[in-house]
Amino acid sequence: MYGGVPLRTIKEALLKLKAQGELHRVKMVDLTNCTFDGHVYDTRRVMEECLAIKPDLIFLWDEAWFGFAHWSPLLRQRTAMGAAAVLTEELAKPEAVTAWEEQQKALGDSPSEDVLLATRLVPDPRAVRLRIYQTNSVHKSMSALRQGSIVLVKDVDFEHVESQFHEAVFTHASTSPNQQIIASLDVARRQMQLEGYGLVANALQISLEIRRQINSHPIISKYFKVLSNAEMIPDSFRQSGLDDYNDPDISWGKAIQSIRDDEFLLDPTRMTLSCGHAGFDGTTFKNILAEKFNIQLNKTSRNSILLQSNINNTRSDIALLIRVLVDIAMDLETKITENGEGYRTVFAQQVRELVDDLPKLPNFSCFDDRYREDATADTLHGDIRRAFYDAYKEAECEYLALDSQELDKRLQSGPTLVSANFVIPYPPGFPIMVPGQVITQEIVDFMRKLDVKEIHGFNKALGLKLLKR
Ligand SMILES: Cc1ncc(COP(=O)(O)O)c(C=O)c1O
Repeated sequence: MYGGVPLRTIKEALLKLKAQGELHRVKMVDLTNCTFDGHVYDTRRVMEECLAIKPDLIFLWDEAWFGFAHWSPLLRQRTAMGAAAVLTEELAKPEAVTAWEEQQKALGDSPSEDVLLATRLVPDPRAVRLRIYQTNSVHKSMSALRQGSIVLVKDVDFEHVESQFHEAVFTHASTSPNQQIIASLDVARRQMQLEGYGLVANALQISLEIRRQINSHPIISKYFKVLSNAEMIPDSFRQSGLDDYNDPDISWGKAIQSIRDDEFLLDPTRMTLSCGHAGFDGTTFKNILAEKFNIQLNKTSRNSILLQSNINNTRSDIALLIRVLVDIAMDLETKITENGEGYRTVFAQQVRELVDDLPKLPNFSCFDDRYREDATADTLHGDIRRAFYDAYKEAECEYLALDSQELDKRLQSGPTLVSANFVIPYPPGFPIMVPGQVITQEIVDFMRKLDVKEIHGFNKALGLKLLKR
């Protein structure tokens, strides 16, 4: 699933499996916190409610981008380990048992799925096994060398899995320690222990300043905008009503309420800068910034780029960024006023295509029947591994050009199109198809509209790789 996954969706999936007698097969919930775009979960609530449905669930929080958050007293509670510490303390209190007993009484013997979805579920502390893992790419947000990443473990049953855990690490990594990386992790740890709170406060301050300067600048704001909290997170996931970190009347009370209550919080250090109104797609704009202005980015979307503030930033970085955006905006102003009507029409059309005419992201469709245990069951799961290995057998695969009429015919009247590959366009950077997945009209429409050059798992000259029927 892309982006932040609403808690309701997770609960629905677990409750459905429970109703089908399949809940015992669910071992782990794996979520990315925060997402690349900055969506931060309410880690405590997600774990509490999931544990209320299955008390021995394991949680793997991918906090590759969020390691620094430990050094913000506000953000820490939204990290896996911050929430784990609170949960350990809260579940040990006698009130936790009373709360569970009272909720059980109120829910009655067989509460409906709707009631369970609408209730903030509390777990039974006597049944819960707290098993929480957090991956943390120290090198992404702190001062470690590339590959300086760690796994944090808070697992009451770790002693039973420790040897397998080490074996798994050695299977996937070199068995020879890399002293340079380990030393850099030590340096990063020491730096954060000594100066972390100040450095992170600085990174947060810098991001607020960048947001303010870009969105209030008389020329820059005509073409560029840092998207607000409301534009990044739908209202129903922002119970506090905090719409924008730049609201002039924002109070500490509201900020704290947002951190405590909102289902999703926007990591302030991640700024999505929309560039569609300047007529740039994300990749073109990224290349201009890199080639002409020596500003490096690593994430773009069709009409935006992602800016990040880090613990190393200074006010000079803000000044540089603003000057560059002023230069680019002034250049656009000149072209729009000095070039003729023809230029303005083309520019307006370009903006429309980037801002309004967006290809709709397709949701996961389903696996082909042959990769499902029970093709009549109302479930989405399938045997991706078998499909992946089936695709190794060339004789069982075929290719169809994306713009061919044959493809349209197959969509209309079969046989079903089944993907042999992971197909990952960048941007957005996550799979649009996985091995064994049925290819639908929605997916083909999206692929045909895509104008990005980097599509992993797809060779335009050959076409879509399919598993034969
Ligand atoms: C969400 C997410 N998780 C994990 C990783 C990989 O992290 P590492 O560099 O520690 O392997 C990335 C890398 O970009 C990422 O974006």
